[in-house]
Amino acid sequence: MSSIVTPSLAKLTKINRTFSIAPMLDWTDRHYRYLARVMSAELLLYTEMVTTGAIIHGKGDYLGYNDEENPLALQLGGSNPHDLARCAKLAFDRGYDEINLNVGCPSDRVQSGRFGACLMAEPKLVAECVTAMKQVVDIPVTVKTRIGIDDQDSYEFLSEFVETVSHVGCDTFIVHARKAWLQGLSPKQNREIPPLDYQRVYRLKKDHPSLNISINGGVKTLSECREHLLHLDGVMVGREAYQNPYLLAEVDQQLCGSDKPVLSRDAVLEKFIPYIEKHLISGGRLNHITRHMTGMFQGEPGSRAWRRYISENAHKPGAGIEVIEQARKMMTL
Ligand SMILES: Cc1cc2nc3c(=O)[nH]c(=O)nc-3n(C[C@H](O)[C@H](O)[C@H](O)COP(=O)(O)O)c2cc1C
Repeated sequence: MSSIVTPSLAKLTKINRTFSIAPMLDWTDRHYRYLARVMSAELLLYTEMVTTGAIIHGKGDYLGYNDEENPLALQLGGSNPHDLARCAKLAFDRGYDEINLNVGCPSDRVQSGRFGACLMAEPKLVAECVTAMKQVVDIPVTVKTRIGIDDQDSYEFLSEFVETVSHVGCDTFIVHARKAWLQGLSPKQNREIPPLDYQRVYRLKKDHPSLNISINGGVKTLSECREHLLHLDGVMVGREAYQNPYLLAEVDQQLCGSDKPVLSRDAVLEKFIPYIEKHLISGGRLNHITRHMTGMFQGEPGSRAWRRYISENAHKPGAGIEVIEQARKMMTL
């Protein structure tokens, strides 16, 4: 079911960056993204990071997605301009709306490939990568970064990085408002331990008003998003959008001026079930999708029963839609 949207159509898509969902490896796969899209027509979706090595040498289709997901950005991991350009072109031809370069991931594996957050120390190389990609695609090429790495954590360091990369025509940055420690902290710790500094990202926007700057890190509610939007162009939400996905049901109304009615949780499920049925008919496993749904009723009475029933039953061979229906019933027992 890969997209066959033509590049010319993709080019016409105007990207609304007010609210986006962060790229999250193993979490924001195509099933999760479809669920998110059921709840919001406006939000911008990002794929999990896909490395240039996987796209160029891998056997699977790393660029596959469902047409319904657009607007959709592909996040690339890599630092070889030639390889990045090759992958960006493939993604452009498949109908992606944006190419995003990962300059924020601190994992050892990524560092040994000389990409991710460690690229913050090499702004000229990032600029070369952006240039190479921009030469072959007609969609935005953007960068997701941190506010610093290790001891290179001054405002000037961040500002110079952004200036160097923006000089080659990258006008959109998504900034995770904490620095990364490249040694000694796991990726998970690097999302929790270095303190958040939202003011630094606000200052970056103030000093570079023509750039499109989105903030990321620690945002949990739509009212927090509204606060950030007073200073910035967009907010990117990661963990909360995954663990409490129903948050997304009000994005269009609360942040994007839509007057469509907000879908109830049950209405979301109803709209999602035909997608799950299609997946099952094509031989897919139920739990590959339901693992993204366990937080759907977070904060509601019975949400634990929902979560438990799904976790205990969705992986069983032959499990079908009845597991979801029964899990819903368990909430009211
Ligand atoms: C499970 C998981 C996987 C992640 N994978 C990626 C990734 O592939 N690319 C990336 O740029 N960031 C990745 N991140 C970081 C998020 O995009 C985001 O920057 C971070 O979680 C902070 O935002 P939050 O506080 O809203 O979650 C990941 C985060 C999590 C929790």
